[in-house]
Amino acid sequence: MATLKLGEDFLLGTATSSVQIEGGDTNNTWYKWCEEGHIKDFSSAYTACDHWNRVEEDTEILKSLGVQTHRLSLEWSRIQPAPGEFSTEATKHYREELELLLANNIQPLVTLHHFSEPLWFQELGGWLKPENSEYYVEYARYVVENFGDLVAEWVTFNEPNVFVNFGYLIGIFPPGEKGLRKYFRVSAEIIKTHIRVYRLIHKIRSHRGFQGETRVGTAMHHRVFDGLTFVGKRTAELTDYFFHDLFLEGMIRGKFKFPLGLAGGKDEPGHYADFLGINYYTRNIVEFVLNPFCYFHRCRFDSNMDKSDLGWDIYPKGIYRVCKKYFLKYQLPIYITENGISDQADKKRAKFIVDHLAYLVKAIGENIPVQRYYHWTVMDNFEWLEGEAGFFGLYHCDFRTQRRTPRESAKIYARICKDKEHVLPTL
Ligand code: NOJ
Repeated sequence: MATLKLGEDFLLGTATSSVQIEGGDTNNTWYKWCEEGHIKDFSSAYTACDHWNRVEEDTEILKSLGVQTHRLSLEWSRIQPAPGEFSTEATKHYREELELLLANNIQPLVTLHHFSEPLWFQELGGWLKPENSEYYVEYARYVVENFGDLVAEWVTFNEPNVFVNFGYLIGIFPPGEKGLRKYFRVSAEIIKTHIRVYRLIHKIRSHRGFQGETRVGTAMHHRVFDGLTFVGKRTAELTDYFFHDLFLEGMIRGKFKFPLGLAGGKDEPGHYADFLGINYYTRNIVEFVLNPFCYFHRCRFDSNMDKSDLGWDIYPKGIYRVCKKYFLKYQLPIYITENGISDQADKKRAKFIVDHLAYLVKAIGENIPVQRYYHWTVMDNFEWLEGEAGFFGLYHCDFRTQRRTPRESAKIYARICKDKEHVLPTL
């Protein structure tokens, strides 16, 4: 065991998303998806953690954790309740929330799109109609004009690779579309839109003279894919290509790799990310199968590994592998925009955090500039298809009473945030 210290400029934080915690919104795609019965336990994002009415209480929690930064998302459907209409009430609400964070020395990292969208956007055909991306750009413009003085750092899309995969290829997220052609068309459209919004945020913040270095990126879902056989390894490379590389090359370098060029993408070589946002949770073992519904591969977990409540392998080394691989490729500073574990009994979370941080310290020791760690998440929340049965919180949240209770791991994370130091396992 060794004591390792995280540098003063390394910031520790937490991450949340609007629909998963706010509750009370009927104007977003996830509200409808819940109503239609797609959630395993039939719970609804309408309940969630009632954060919309508990911003002060929840900011107190962040204060007691001692985080230096917090990643949150704005709810598009609240800010733009109808095409061309912007809500002054929602604008005031989010401004107050951001001001409260800043007053407590918590630097915000703001996500514009975290899986949920206004229902009207879906009804207009969502991302399948290229002209609709104009709505998202309009929303982004409004947001940066109205919050850009408080926020310097932005995430345009959370896990675009998961969003498009689940929403347009296999149809398990709204809008529930299925098909390879739709998948590639929407992927190309989202990449193009990211590029536009990347430029827009820089332009507005610089024209308006807003303080602080503007940094814009995405929070990509990074999964380690390992093959065990020769064919498995090639399949893993191919899976990597479709799941990671298509999006990274597009969103960082403006390159529309095959087949996105055939799906409406046109190269715009350039530089469209100021950090590499990495959401890292687990790894998969990949096998080759030819199946028209999942095209060429099957992902499974390793039966020999320790698991989270959701059955995901706990594989801390993966965070190091991902940082190293993509830093070598893109030479960008790294933000771990999410990392966490569903662990209701809280038996594994503290070790999970410490082990992942240890691998980040190793990466930093090899001159890989990892600058942020955002733990997912503050309290148990609405975990998409798992509903109320995902337990990612440092705090337990009782959705019926809305009581928040710190788990033991919250105390340990608070200590790490305070000291930036811990006894770390020797790797
Ligand atoms: C990544 C997603 O961004 C977040 O919304 C989700 O809750 C976590 N993964 C855990 O599944």
